This record gives sequence, C-alpha cells and structure tokens, in this order.
Amino acid sequence: MPINKKKIAGEKATEYIKDGMTVGLGTGSTAKYLVEKVGEMVKNGLKIQAVATSRATENMAKELGISLVDVNDVDYIDVAIDGVDEIDRDFNATKGGGGALFREKIVASLAKKVIWIMDDSKLVESIGEFPLPVEILPYGYKATFKRLKALGYDPVMRLKNNELYVTDNGNYIADLHIGSHANSDDIKQKLDNTVGVLETGQFLKMCDYIVVGTCNGARVYDAISIKQEKF
Ligand code: 5RP
Repeated sequence: MPINKKKIAGEKATEYIKDGMTVGLGTGSTAKYLVEKVGEMVKNGLKIQAVATSRATENMAKELGISLVDVNDVDYIDVAIDGVDEIDRDFNATKGGGGALFREKIVASLAKKVIWIMDDSKLVESIGEFPLPVEILPYGYKATFKRLKALGYDPVMRLKNNELYVTDNGNYIADLHIGSHANSDDIKQKLDNTVGVLETGQFLKMCDYIVVGTCNGARVYDAISIKQEKF
C-alpha cells in the first residue's frame, strides 16, 4: 500500500492538541485525517472545543462527536491546524484550493499557534505556481473580474457543475494565474486595494510550524529550521 503522507502529517499534528484547548480545524484532504484523529481522541476522553473552517469540516466534526463552538463566541483559538496548497521557505503559503480561504484566514488570525499540515509535494522554492484563490463578492463580480484582469493576474472564475462556485459565505472565487516570479507583498497590496475582493488565499508568514508527511514519517519545522532544508 502506498504511504499516505497526508495522513502522517494530519495525525502528527494532533500532538499539539491538549485538554481544555479551543482548536481550529482546517479544511481539505489533509485536514480530514486530522479531524478523524481528533474524533478518535475525543472518544478516548480528550476535552476540547473546536472552531471549524468550513461547513464540510463542521459536518465531519459533528459526526465524530467533536464539540463545536461558534467563531463569534471565542476570544482566541489556542491552536489552528490546516492544510496548504503550496508553501515556501519563508512560510509564505497559498491556501483556498478547497474554497474555504476566508474562514481559514479568520480562524488562523485568532490563533495563538498556527500549524500547517501537508505532504512534501506542497513545499516549493517560490509560491505562485498554484493558482491564487480570491474570494469576491457576487455584487458587481464582473467588474471585480475586470479589475483583476487589468492587474495582469489572468483570473478564471471557479466553477462547479458548470455553475459559478459558491463559497460557504455565499461568494464567488476567482483563481489567479500569476506565476512564481511575482512579489507576494506587491500582489497583496494590489489585491487588498481591489474593490470587490473580500479575501485572498495568500497566507504570508502566518504559521508557527509546518508538519510535513514524507516517506520517512512526519517532519516538523519552524521558521528557522525550514531554512536549512532542501526541497
Ligand atoms: C481549503 C484549503 C486546503 O487546506 C488546501 O486546499 C489544501 O488541501 P489538501 O490538504 O486537500 O491538499 O486551503 O480551502
């Protein structure tokens, strides 16, 4: 059977979860293993409350008997654990491939400790190859789309079953094709100033640790130890 690197990373990250914590639960195929393991730990007596980053994760957590709390009812989150689509050595990441970027950013921004989990294919020298998801408001979205196009970001409206993809927040997503040679801070500034853009999948230096699933087990890096690593 092939090694399941996502499972290795997701399960390893549960070591950061302790009794009494408020935990941010991520979204996606790697976070799924995290949530499954947390469900198992809860059945074995772990006492936590969780904030979900998407309806899908919320539903999964409910089925597994994990206590959920509304994001508006917490002042902070002890630890948020989530997947990424790509991440570089400076801990600049792209997220939102699964469409949950807005809630993921809110949850990460409330967390005292942020951990991204992934298989080793997500480590890149420079982010930008993965299309950057941007959540845009439906009102006037065609004008927003034109603005993104005028910036040279080659936007493509995300579709599902041939209809515009709708996020958990009732918005749309434009996936931007920028390439890996652009300056992330410059892109951030331009997108922050684009009318109609609610949030972007740029998560720049937002995490404390990454947990990477490899053929040789899980590897944990912080912002210093990742610098020495060869990808
Ligand atoms: C969802 C996300 C996911 O965390 C990201 O897409 C990674 O997903 P996966 O673990 O399935 O590769 O940002 O919005």
